[in-house]
Amino acid sequence: MKQRILSVALIAVMILSLTLTGCGNSSSSDGGENQGGVKIVGVAMPTQSSERWIKDGRNMKAKLEELGYEVFLQYAEDDVQVQLAQIETMIAKGVDCLVVAAVDSSALINALKTAQEVGIPVISYDRLLMNTDSVNYYASFDNEGVGRKIGEYIEEKAELKDAAEPQTIEFFMGSPDDNNAVLLYKGVMSVLEKYLDDGTLICKSGRTSFDDTCILRWSQETALQNCENYLSGFYADEKLDICCSAFDGFAYGIKAALEAAGYTEEDWPIITGQDAEVMAVKNIIDGKQTATIFKDTGLLADKCAGMVKAVIEGSEPEINDTETYDNGKMVVPSYLCEPQSLDKDNYKELVIDSGYYKEEEIMNAK
Ligand code: BGC
Repeated sequence: MKQRILSVALIAVMILSLTLTGCGNSSSSDGGENQGGVKIVGVAMPTQSSERWIKDGRNMKAKLEELGYEVFLQYAEDDVQVQLAQIETMIAKGVDCLVVAAVDSSALINALKTAQEVGIPVISYDRLLMNTDSVNYYASFDNEGVGRKIGEYIEEKAELKDAAEPQTIEFFMGSPDDNNAVLLYKGVMSVLEKYLDDGTLICKSGRTSFDDTCILRWSQETALQNCENYLSGFYADEKLDICCSAFDGFAYGIKAALEAAGYTEEDWPIITGQDAEVMAVKNIIDGKQTATIFKDTGLLADKCAGMVKAVIEGSEPEINDTETYDNGKMVVPSYLCEPQSLDKDNYKELVIDSGYYKEEEIMNAK
């Protein structure tokens, strides 16, 4: 009942705010309400602080515009309340569909309920919207697969199957409010846990649980600080061999901490990442990062735009998973794209030959 009153109040506030223009910092439409002509799609992205989301926003806008929609794209700069306000404004404007990559989806539950009540379909983009039944579809990658690939890469590169002596490892996992981070950790541990158990891998900080290694809002700065603390606290006499990092941004922080601690080419650890950002690919070519996970965000945007078209037209979108993504309230029908490991040996094929990046983009990355 309380929930219902809140929703009604929220709708009232939104109707009042219909005359307002858009807030936020990035919009491709003029922010005008939908008056029955061109369909408008609200796209809420988490942050521009990482290249991947800039690319996602750009891709989604282009694909949706190709399909004839107007796009109202906003970034929340990792601020939960800002994203909530942006989504409320999109609902008030009467968008025809909402695409949401959440900062922290627990803050969005009431707003999404309102969207559902006023008939706006919601698509969860890359990050699953948790604990809500106000979501129609989910477009993402196999997120546990991302973790498994990171684990398998380390297993192979560090030759763990027949290691002559133990190797040291530290973990840098994703944000606790992001379901992807939890799944990624699960995937990593499905490969590496046995090596921690039998002493092939030694984590000198003792921090191997998700709770102990997760980094709020995927902060590069926190990864840098954590790495500095590990190096000074546990690796004064022995080198750190492996940094199991869940994100390219963490790998940049780790790189800075290692450089400050005097690590050189000879003793540089294995460092993983995720997203295949241009900077990460450059670091991989330069030997400062070992690997990353390439997730083709163009393909993801394609699949997601297809979902938008289907919900607006009332047809069935392409999905390939109806079992995995239980958000606590419902199993969300999903399309999952395949992640791929990328390192020095295959980066050309994966991101240059495919046209994903131009060689100059990588060389000029800063
Ligand atoms: C995405 C990753 C990204 C991370 C940090 C996750 O939800 O799946 O690709 O690296 O957020 O932005």
